[in-house]
Amino acid sequence: MSNINYDFIIEYISSMQPDLKGNLKEIEDYGKENNVPIVTPIMHRFLEFILSIKRPRNILEFGTAIGFSSILMSKYASGKIITLERNERMRVVADRNIKEAGLEDKIEIKFGDAIENVKNLDEKFDIIFIDAAKSKYQEFFDVSYPMLDDGGIIIADNVLNKGDIAKPIEDIERRNRTIHRGMNKFIENMLNDERFETVLLPFSDGVLLAHKKEVE
Ligand SMILES: C[S@@+](CC[C@H](N)C(=O)[O-])C[C@H]1O[C@@H](n2cnc3c(N)ncnc32)[C@H](O)[C@@H]1O
Repeated sequence: MSNINYDFIIEYISSMQPDLKGNLKEIEDYGKENNVPIVTPIMHRFLEFILSIKRPRNILEFGTAIGFSSILMSKYASGKIITLERNERMRVVADRNIKEAGLEDKIEIKFGDAIENVKNLDEKFDIIFIDAAKSKYQEFFDVSYPMLDDGGIIIADNVLNKGDIAKPIEDIERRNRTIHRGMNKFIENMLNDERFETVLLPFSDGVLLAHKKEVE
């Protein structure tokens, strides 16, 4: 099983999603044809659901790929989206897709290592979406936390890594053990961080949601 849930349930829910708007369908198709990982249909509806409630000003995204999720999220942000990507091939395609959608003034791609680029930002964000290297989630959190507004939300995708994260480490191939340790530590830290209300949810590839409490 490649998913953490039953395939027939995922197919059922995915088939019930409304049609994608603008150039998102083309981008999704390009992703499938070229094996570019983008948010699943269930995750993308979940993002839209959360953002339709939160109505953020600025969003920070770790992992642009070809721009699917940043274009999707841009509809809900009144300010801007800063999205971080280190792969040149991805950056070029994302740039083209963002321009085609007419969103070049709203979505800014910062090219290079995400952690280095975040250090140079001085914006504040209401949403931080983490969807990049699984071995670095804790570092992504640490570097971006000071920029998260009170009441802001962290959304981290793929935190269960096809279920591996929930298995004992002895059952994990040696080359994947760093991710296993790092992600387990990140999840444990977040669930015990009293500055946040945090929940770990078993859909998509595992999603962690953390709401930063308002200062009283
Ligand atoms: C899962 S894809 C992002 C998918 C995108 N959020 C979407 O749903 O449309 C992850 C991307 O993160 C990028 N990435 C991974 N680690 C990174 C890092 N340390 N800095 C910048 N980009 C990184 C990869 O090159 C890859 O394109």
